[in-house]
Amino acid sequence: TKNIDLAVIAGDGIGIEVVEQGLAVLESALATSDVSLATTDFNLGAKRWHETGDTLTDEDLAALRTKDAILLGAIGDPTVPSGVLERGLLLKLRFSLDHYVNLRPGKLYQGVKSPLAEPGEIDFVVVREGTEGPYVGNGGSIRTGTPHEVANEVSVNTAFGIERVVRDAFARAAARERKHLTLVHKHNVLVHAGHLWRRTVERVNEEFPEVTTDYLHVDAATIFLTTNPSRFDVIVTDNLFGDILTDQAAAITGGIGLAASGNINPDRTTPSMFEPVHGSAPDIAGQGKADPTATILSVAMLLDHLGYTEQSKSVENAVAADLAERGTAVRSTAEVGADIAARVRG
Ligand code: IPM
Ligand code: MN
Repeated sequence: TKNIDLAVIAGDGIGIEVVEQGLAVLESALATSDVSLATTDFNLGAKRWHETGDTLTDEDLAALRTKDAILLGAIGDPTVPSGVLERGLLLKLRFSLDHYVNLRPGKLYQGVKSPLAEPGEIDFVVVREGTEGPYVGNGGSIRTGTPHEVANEVSVNTAFGIERVVRDAFARAAARERKHLTLVHKHNVLVHAGHLWRRTVERVNEEFPEVTTDYLHVDAATIFLTTNPSRFDVIVTDNLFGDILTDQAAAITGGIGLAASGNINPDRTTPSMFEPVHGSAPDIAGQGKADPTATILSVAMLLDHLGYTEQSKSVENAVAADLAERGTAVRSTAEVGADIAARVRG
């Protein structure tokens, strides 16, 4: 029989509450299958940092590497200085495990209210590069704290790194109905990186002639995400542009309470990591108010990545049905989780 050996990093704030529901739905989805589930909790986040000063040790990473996948709740706490957990834990996980595809669907489900007056059909996916760009920490500050301070964050863009994420985006586009790929960058200003991205898309397109492509500068992309989001099918972009665009994508499709993501290593040399796009929301943590739907949709992505297509579909369909009937009812984190789990069980 098959088994999923899952690492669970609930993390901070509402991460703990939403992961509990994500796991309950995952168990429901596997209940009637021949797939068993083993979970290992990893104590990572603010609590661990306060206890030991560690964010993510070599031992933690070695243990995580042995797992099939990782489910992560949220990282970040106001008691920890900004950047410590973000860089030392979340980004360190993405970089160390070579999660070069940060996959973030932008889908408006039936029954969900978009802030756009006429949203139309929204169903695209952002392939955000996950290991390069301005995120890598290639920079520094001199004359720090003086009026002559110079602070640099240098965006790193390698031909290797761009090509592999672009190829993945093309493959995803080729597997979709519309087979369309939009490159988002800013090559009128960021000429070095921008043209390397553009040339790479043109070259890899030869391997996927069935995929049509276009290009948008990132500022124009934000306009179209508001005025005509239906035009998007697959978007490929760098780490920082992808970070910003996927918050906008979440906003137009019902908010970050619904936005799922996967930090994926398509080569499967390391476990991929699935997490809601939202953060730890310390203002509502512990109150049972957080919407676990984003985590549950991330669980659907996890199942899909591991090849359990049918179980993945059952989770996504349960979420879609729940959203379609959600109406104005105010439900707790546990109630939403239980409602979706019940639909998964059928
Ligand atoms: C996200 C978050 C992270 C990012 C932060 C917390 C480092 O905003 O997952 O989108 O910028 O990638
Ligand atoms: Mn973000």
